[in-house]
Amino acid sequence: MNITDKFSRKLRDVRISVTDRCNFRCSYCMPKDIYDSNYKFFKKTEILSFEEIIRLTKILADLGVKKVRLTGGEPLLRKNIHVLISHIKNIKGIADISMTTNGVLLSEKKAFLLKESGLNRLTVSLDSLDKGRFREISGSNYVPDDVLIGIENAKKAGFHNIKINMVVKKNVNNQDIIPMLENFYGSDCIVRFIEFMDVGNVNFWNKNEVISLENILSVISKKYNIKSLKKNYTSEVAKRWSFSGGEFGVISSISNPFCGDCSRIRLTAEGKLFTCLFAEKSHDIKSLIRSSKSDVEIKNYLTSMWSARDDRYSETRTTSVDSKIIKKAEMSYIGG
Ligand code: GTP
Ligand code: 5AD
Ligand code: SF4
Ligand code: SF4
Repeated sequence: MNITDKFSRKLRDVRISVTDRCNFRCSYCMPKDIYDSNYKFFKKTEILSFEEIIRLTKILADLGVKKVRLTGGEPLLRKNIHVLISHIKNIKGIADISMTTNGVLLSEKKAFLLKESGLNRLTVSLDSLDKGRFREISGSNYVPDDVLIGIENAKKAGFHNIKINMVVKKNVNNQDIIPMLENFYGSDCIVRFIEFMDVGNVNFWNKNEVISLENILSVISKKYNIKSLKKNYTSEVAKRWSFSGGEFGVISSISNPFCGDCSRIRLTAEGKLFTCLFAEKSHDIKSLIRSSKSDVEIKNYLTSMWSARDDRYSETRTTSVDSKIIKKAEMSYIGG
């Protein structure tokens, strides 16, 4: 079944946040002064169980969802996540299951469990190879080597083409663009540079801190001949380039939005659905799941929700956000 929104965009992907907790405190996502020991994360009873996630994913698959991405917080903090993966893997219609992680919990054992459970693809966040900058940005006591070891373990377990996400911020880590590109050259990993986005309200986003797609390309093209590559699939968020036989990507939600073919829905750990990363309103699907509603009733609810969808925040932010402050969901809650 195919359902379409107000701009004829199909529902194809779901990003599932499996926990709002994280072992990092990235300044652009979970600043330490807010996510401190007093911060109230969800209790176990408040978050969706594996059974509830599986039931909802089956319904979404019936409505046309083919891709599932597990996010957090840090998804590897969710106990037995591989068990959830193996169940999602068996859902009819789900063709691809992936995960975005900070990588430090990717022990060899964990990486093999993920692979064996059927996880198809891995994306690892890494903002700098410099120990000092890494610690500053991630707000953790880990070092880049902890992430690099995780990536090696994932490769040993059989993951290929691992994507490496680097959020680039002006005067924070823009000097790391070339080192990151060169470090992963020829390593079966693809670095993607991400424009710092105005997700949530706690990261005090300021457009002057954004290193744009244009800036990134200008840095790289000073050293390498680059050539634009075609998208791998319609709703891919990254634009791709080749350089010296390698490849990199740029995710430019600020300077070059990609709402036109956005087919993603987002499910938070506590069971709220968002039709856009920047949506002000969510839909409480947990209450429906925990009520006596049948799958058909939930399916009808989701169909009307998607049909009413008219989100295209990144395309309109210059006119709307600058003029009014809106209350948006935080990154660690909505999962990116
Ligand atoms: P694949 O294309 O399946 O590899 O996944 P992805 O690149 O969408 O997933 P990932 O979690 O690595 O996200 C990369 C970056 O893109 C993150 O900063 C996300 O927040 C951002 N992103 C993903 N989807 C959207 C979207 O729909 N809108 C916006 N504005 N940003 C998005
Ligand atoms: N802007 C851009 N990317 C972000 N991420 C987290 N917060 C932001 C932000 N404000 C990235 C993470 C992770 C992905 C899910 O989103 O680094 O790689
Ligand atoms: Fe954790 Fe990822 Fe947020 Fe960093 S960006 S605090 S690793 S959820
Ligand atoms: Fe999709 Fe919203 Fe991102 Fe646009 S801003 S691509 S509509 S999630």
